Amino acid sequence: MRNEALDHAATSLPAALDRLKDLLRIPSISTDPAYRENCAQAADWLVADLASMGFDASVRETPGHPMVVAHHDGPGPHILFYGHYDVQPVDPLELWDTDPFDPVEIEGDLGPALRARGASDDKGQVMTFLEACRSWKAVSGTLPCKITVFLEGEEESGSPSLVPFMETNKEELSADLVLICDTALFGDNTPAIVTQLRGLLGEEFTIHGPKLDLHSGFFGGAAMNPGRVLAKILASLHDDAGRITVPGFYDGVPELPAELKAQWDGLDFDPTEFLGAVGLADPAGEDGRSVLEMVWSRPTCEINGLDCGYTGDGFKTVLPAQARAKISFRLVADQDPHEIRKSFRAMVEGMIPKDCRVEWIGHGASKASQMVTDHPAFELSRQALSDEWGVEAAFIGCGGSIPIAGHFQRILDMNSMLIGFGRENDAIHSPNEKYDLRSFEKGIRSWIRIMDKISQG
Ligand code: BES
Ligand code: ZN
Repeated sequence: MRNEALDHAATSLPAALDRLKDLLRIPSISTDPAYRENCAQAADWLVADLASMGFDASVRETPGHPMVVAHHDGPGPHILFYGHYDVQPVDPLELWDTDPFDPVEIEGDLGPALRARGASDDKGQVMTFLEACRSWKAVSGTLPCKITVFLEGEEESGSPSLVPFMETNKEELSADLVLICDTALFGDNTPAIVTQLRGLLGEEFTIHGPKLDLHSGFFGGAAMNPGRVLAKILASLHDDAGRITVPGFYDGVPELPAELKAQWDGLDFDPTEFLGAVGLADPAGEDGRSVLEMVWSRPTCEINGLDCGYTGDGFKTVLPAQARAKISFRLVADQDPHEIRKSFRAMVEGMIPKDCRVEWIGHGASKASQMVTDHPAFELSRQALSDEWGVEAAFIGCGGSIPIAGHFQRILDMNSMLIGFGRENDAIHSPNEKYDLRSFEKGIRSWIRIMDKISQG
């Protein structure tokens, strides 16, 4: 039946692409309240699509954006598939070559690709799995495994409704294994199973100084400038060796185990190419660490946004009343986001001069997660991926964060297997996001093979 499903996927690819385009036309930006209705619309679209394949599918309301939950019976093990239908905002819009919500086929570096916000992260990836199910169903009338699909609409904005939803729907969401399609290939041609993800801590703070913006000639020199205070704080977050200076930050950060280091050293990875592709040459992390370590197994502190004074065209001699920064920390191993939040805030508050005060907004706080790879599905999926791609699948780390993998472990005692088909140059979260048609097609084919292997395993 597997080969019939693969053939079906090939002949129905144009229709699959049309369906993906329909989904991409819905601007489901979760972080911006202006798009609330569109998020609901995307959830409805997915429920209708799943129902058309014979899933028992429903939209489940939450205080935020709705969840989609769908069930289909089958003979093999019970698999829960997770993905997200929400997308990142599109700004800066002027840097897009076409409308982000009007998907177009473009010629990419490895052949045709589809350009649109969410093409890669995560609508295109979600649809690889749904299309694989559609092909199985079309050729056999059923699915090779029992499948629950669980799709979220708040992943890109910190998933505020996720944990309560998982807790109240524990039984319904329980399965033997979780599959997540929200990660990338390793390089351009090597399929990958992600075995560790970094955690994430978000902090936003505003330093307030004078009660209004001042003339920087009239008051400059006498009045404390919040921009100056902020610059000093930000400049002190890393030392000259690239280490983060927040007290206690490295508690719970181990050295990379020798076995894993050897495995990563054996991967075909060229740091010069990796940085060269984005116009850089010099690794900016801690001294003495490899680039793969820097992005997969070392924690970071990055400035994500800064806002202070006059930033429009031209020039204005202003002494701003406030300065604001958005900072994120990527966390690894046993680092505790709540302890780090406390320590970071104490450090910042200790640097605020008399005439200023600081106001805080805490964003998401999730720990890093480590998958348990001795579940037989890992080896079976590795074989399935190798069969499809003609290259041995790699077990890799991932610098990004998908906090739900940890929630599945802690709340539902379920292990996740993260397999995705995105590429580093997909420009996720950036202008001109795209998903290669090759990723889409081979993604569908990979899931068909994976379901087949797991169902027999
Ligand atoms: N799909 C990404 C995670 C990802 C990033 C996988 C890079 C592979 C490579 C996911 O949607 C995402 O962007 N997550 C956010 C975290 C979220 C809590 C806002 C991230 O990593 O910044
Ligand atoms: Zn994503």
